[in-house]
Amino acid sequence: MAARPVTISAVDLFCGVGGLSHGLQDAGIHVVAGVDLDRACDYPYRTNIRAPFHRRDVRDITVDELAAMWPTKAVRVLAGCAPCQPFSSYRRGVDTSQEAQWPLVNEVRRLVEGTLPEIVTMENVPRIGSTSVFADFVERLRKLGYWVDFGSCYCPAYGVPQHRRRMVLVASLLGDIAVPKGAVAPADYVTVRQAIGGLPAVGNGETHPSDRLHKSRSLSELNLERIKRSKPGGTWEEWPEDLRASCHRRASGATFRNVYARMVWDEPSPTITTLAYNFGAGRFGHPEQDRAITLREAAILQSFPPGYEFVAPGVPAQFAPLGRLIGNAVPPRLASAVGDAIVGHVRAMKGAVRKATPSTTIPAAL
Ligand SMILES: C[S@@+](CC[C@H](N)C(=O)[O-])C[C@H]1O[C@@H](n2cnc3c(N)ncnc32)[C@H](O)[C@@H]1O
Repeated sequence: MAARPVTISAVDLFCGVGGLSHGLQDAGIHVVAGVDLDRACDYPYRTNIRAPFHRRDVRDITVDELAAMWPTKAVRVLAGCAPCQPFSSYRRGVDTSQEAQWPLVNEVRRLVEGTLPEIVTMENVPRIGSTSVFADFVERLRKLGYWVDFGSCYCPAYGVPQHRRRMVLVASLLGDIAVPKGAVAPADYVTVRQAIGGLPAVGNGETHPSDRLHKSRSLSELNLERIKRSKPGGTWEEWPEDLRASCHRRASGATFRNVYARMVWDEPSPTITTLAYNFGAGRFGHPEQDRAITLREAAILQSFPPGYEFVAPGVPAQFAPLGRLIGNAVPPRLASAVGDAIVGHVRAMKGAVRKATPSTTIPAAL
């Protein structure tokens, strides 16, 4: 008699709005719980992922509590994308080792040691790869018997319309496992035009009536003048002297080419940061409309589906908190490639896998 297909069940620590969970679900993995201390993640996580959301500090989650989140007999996945701020390249040269977020990777390690899930995955900024906290984590995984692979992934090669690099780690107790290679050739990278070119036009500082997130942050008179003078892919050097910002006038200004600038239609976008709605914080000007990109455009450039819900009805859609949730997310398409690699690996090691169909009911708040 053939062995029964196995189910793969994931708990997502530091789940945010569910970028990683969404991608794992797309791959057929059954996401059984998300944990994050940010209350703003509760509604989007439950609504889109349809899995319980535990608003908890990961440091307070006990081994027994985590173990109870997985169903019995499933192949268990633990995803732990700890906050990347201490490791971000924006912080290069700053000693961040005393910051409270630094040891959070060690919390993932504590929970791995206590539960020994068959599969572990983690995503973070590439710089984490050169830190001792990451080296210690990998060494510990190997000592616990895990096969481990990690590498820097260039998001356009995974179908994400965005120049973003991320470190992905996968580890398995079942056998050799590998970080997936990006399958998209440079000629086929998804462009800004393909991703957001079909969205309805929105004026500067306006919200489209059909979507509360298709909302652009109002530009000052000066910034409006600047964007009008900006060409897609161009820089402030094309502006008249009186429009230039003080950072441009300094000798170091030559390095600020990618602020107050427009995106290019036929390339992937720049990295979508937590400030992607702000024209002055990056190359976040729309390629042809005289405005910054909207929150919805930022989310789509992160490869979230166009209907992804980020905020509950009746709650105002505010730029700063939503920009943070969107910019901090793991791009779902990168996550789904990781999910495919996990499913392929489990199939090779254990035989048939029963793909999960996400629930249609939204779990109640815990
Ligand atoms: C990089 S984001 C995770 C993104 C998420 N995996 C996604 O794909 O959307 C890091 C998350 O960690 C959460 N966080 C930070 N410290 C935490 C802690 N001590 N316990 C639980 N969550 C924490 C933040 O609220 C944030 O949502």
